[in-house]
Amino acid sequence: MTAPSADAVVVRPAARLRGSPALPGDKSVSHRALLLALLAAGESRIAAAGDGADVRSTAGVAAALGATVERVAERAGRVDYRVISPGGANLAEPEAILDCGNSGTTTRLVAGLLAGRPLFAILDGDASLRRRPMGRVAEPLRAMGATLAGRRGGTLLPMAVTGRARLDPIDYRTPVPSAQVKSAILLAGLAAAGVTRVTEAVATRDHTERMLRARGVAVDETTGPDGEHIVTLRGPATVAAVSDTVPADPSGAAFWLVAAAIHPDAEIRLEGVSTNPTRRAIIDILRRMGASIEEHELEGPGGPDGEPLADLVVRSSELRGIDVSPALVAAAIDEIPILALAAARASGTTRIRGAGELRHKESDRIAGIADGLIALGADVRVEGDDIEIHGGRRLTGAVTDTLDDHRLAMTFAVAGLIAEGETTVLRPASAAISYPGFFRELEGVRA
Ligand code: S3P
Repeated sequence: MTAPSADAVVVRPAARLRGSPALPGDKSVSHRALLLALLAAGESRIAAAGDGADVRSTAGVAAALGATVERVAERAGRVDYRVISPGGANLAEPEAILDCGNSGTTTRLVAGLLAGRPLFAILDGDASLRRRPMGRVAEPLRAMGATLAGRRGGTLLPMAVTGRARLDPIDYRTPVPSAQVKSAILLAGLAAAGVTRVTEAVATRDHTERMLRARGVAVDETTGPDGEHIVTLRGPATVAAVSDTVPADPSGAAFWLVAAAIHPDAEIRLEGVSTNPTRRAIIDILRRMGASIEEHELEGPGGPDGEPLADLVVRSSELRGIDVSPALVAAAIDEIPILALAAARASGTTRIRGAGELRHKESDRIAGIADGLIALGADVRVEGDDIEIHGGRRLTGAVTDTLDDHRLAMTFAVAGLIAEGETTVLRPASAAISYPGFFRELEGVRA
């Protein structure tokens, strides 16, 4: 492998894969830990947070809103934070535009948090973030009484938020499954007098619910008659300061799960991974495809949030194609790019149905996956929002374009470990959005 410059990295096939790559701290948990620390008066400690650019964006926003955010230690690509905040009732009105970088989670969660604070703030981000849909948070937050204005009718960044100290509670059904939208409403619900209820057709990641409960907020979860996930929060509520430890990111682990499963001589161990039921779909899907993944549950749930943790061991496997329903797409939304690579190497056909949300991520991931895998020799067909992959073809090194999307960069780099010849990954630096040590670990596992 040549060093990942901003322009391109060349990945050559690996004879064998071994080892235990260092994983990033979970990105979703890290964002929430920082924002809840901002809302909590006093000192919060966050150990082993993700240190990717997205989480750093959230740390920057927390500081701009009045918290002292200190990096107290760094190891293996993770960071321990100490956050001292005046608390949600005493946030500072930011002097400058809040830079959310490439991070949709930062933008949408902060919009929800600000809706219930009597401040004026402007959220902005990079070119990718400025293309992503923000109407999905603006609409419910307006219904709760906040004022949000942005480009194209308030649906695109830059977006200005004028919050209110007291919001109206809302009973809201999310039009698309989105943990970010759900979380934005729950964070706004902290400032609403009464019960805020969010109903989602399929349960999305539940970190906000767990973490609010661990910080003293009454949050209930029930299942509706049609299997919907219903979350209620009683406001107004204050968030308590806690010490927390962030688990390893299952979305980062997914790249190694697939790398080892599709490589003919591989054994990789992944330590301390969150196996939260709303995040573990990729493990279960790969197992159903025939992947050999051992799961060693760790004693006691990790930290105050009760995230279940496990060490995983994955070995070379013979994979079979699978049908991935729209509900499974929602459950493995960030893992679809790397799952598509697994499907390209599996025998038989994989159908990924109802994947339209992938067009609204850091790039149009449906186009990005299809173009990259086709360049490598895979048989991939896109029909509307469905992806059909006829697996089993040998992959051959080619030039792949990441579209500056971290999950595409890591997917094509993993493909390079098994493709014949040289795989060129254009614009690989975005891997650092969620997994700053990824290319170092890629070198490590091939040793
Ligand atoms: C996230 C939710 C998902 C996911 C993103 C992180 C979160 O986005 O894709 O990487 O932390 O809440 P959506 O809510 O847009 O599905």
